[in-house]
Amino acid sequence: MKKRVLFICLGNICRSPLAEALFIHRIKERDLEHLFEVDSCGTNGFHNGERADERTRKNALQHGVEVPSISRQLTFGDVLDFDFLITMASDVQFQVQRFCETDDQKNKVQLFRKFDVSAPNSNVPDPWYGGEDGFEEVFHIIKNNIDVWIDHILEE
Ligand code: 4NP
Repeated sequence: MKKRVLFICLGNICRSPLAEALFIHRIKERDLEHLFEVDSCGTNGFHNGERADERTRKNALQHGVEVPSISRQLTFGDVLDFDFLITMASDVQFQVQRFCETDDQKNKVQLFRKFDVSAPNSNVPDPWYGGEDGFEEVFHIIKNNIDVWIDHILEE
């Protein structure tokens, strides 16, 4: 059975599409792609159907990573279908948990920086309103936490 992993932020144009892309990038490099199904979405639908923010795509490409996903909003079907609902910040975590109907569903919801030794359980900052530096910072935060998630999910 493939492990089904969904990364979730607010708009699904900055943080979660990058987490999806970096996760896929690393499972390909580690030859683990066949073990996972990976997607991303947002709690709001403001950017439905749009490509990821140009600044996110440009920054990631400078690091050799393409971000191809198209924004879509979280559905209740996602809560049922995915095994891991990984939220990029606590406001998103709260929204997704409110969406859940059972404790089993709520237990799927986890904070992205849960294992981050440099700042455990902190948020991935939303780079949307800031400058280029914010996108670079977010890239490194996400990149530094991807392998620990891959290892953790494989152990579950
Ligand atoms: P994201 O950033 O949640 O990392 O995709 C945002 C982008 C757009 C909006 C909010 C957050 N927005 O409300 O338009």
